[in-house]
Order: sequence, then C-alpha cells, then structure tokens
Amino acid sequence: MTEYRIGPADQIPEGGRLVVDCDGQEIGVFCLHGTLHAWHNLCPHRQGPVCQGRIYARVIEPVAADGTTRLLAYDEDAQQIVCPWHGYEFDLQTGRCQGRPTQRLRPAQLRVEAGIVYVRP
Ligand code: FES
Repeated sequence: MTEYRIGPADQIPEGGRLVVDCDGQEIGVFCLHGTLHAWHNLCPHRQGPVCQGRIYARVIEPVAADGTTRLLAYDEDAQQIVCPWHGYEFDLQTGRCQGRPTQRLRPAQLRVEAGIVYVRP
C-alpha cells in the first residue's frame, strides 16, 4: 500500500484539519489535544465529504441531583464533526457516529517521522 507524504505536522494547528488527495482517495487529518487522527473523507451514511464538516464540542445535558435537566453544556474533550450532507455526527477521536453506534468513520494509517506526517489510505 502506498504511503503519502502530507507535510509538516505543525501545519495542522490544534483543533484544525487538513484534507488531502492521495491519488483519488481523500483523507482528513485532524489535530485534537496534540494528537493527529486520520479519516477517509467518506461518510458511512451516503459517502458524503464528512471531513469537510463543521467541528464542535460534544453537546451534553447535565442531570441535576433531583433528576432534572435544564441546560445544555459542551464537553470540550470530545470533538465532533458533522457531515455536511445529512448531519450525521462523528467523534473525531474514535470515529463513532453519535446517533448510530454501528456506523464509524474509516481510519487511515498515519505516522509522524521527524515532524513529517505520512498517511496510508
Ligand atoms: S452522507 Fe454523511 S450524513 Fe449522509
């Protein structure tokens, strides 16, 4: 399997992304909490360009001691990406779909050597 040189790791800022074309296969590389993650830019729903979606912190609904919920909050440790076609949401660290746990993003192999990022689709 061919390995593709993406470029310097520091060109992807914290919370940022880089979507690259590897001979026809698009790969999204994301930097989350100082760690890089690589996913194929194909949504498992209908093959939409999921890596180009909006990124945001996971929305949570804290439950009070009396069992009530009155507000929403954000879990900044769990970054989500929303597929721009139909809105499926995926955890960028695990690839798991929030609403459909059986659906996941497809990972690409990634390595960093001497500060340079390489991926294998
Ligand atoms: S193609 Fe991504 S949600 Fe439908």
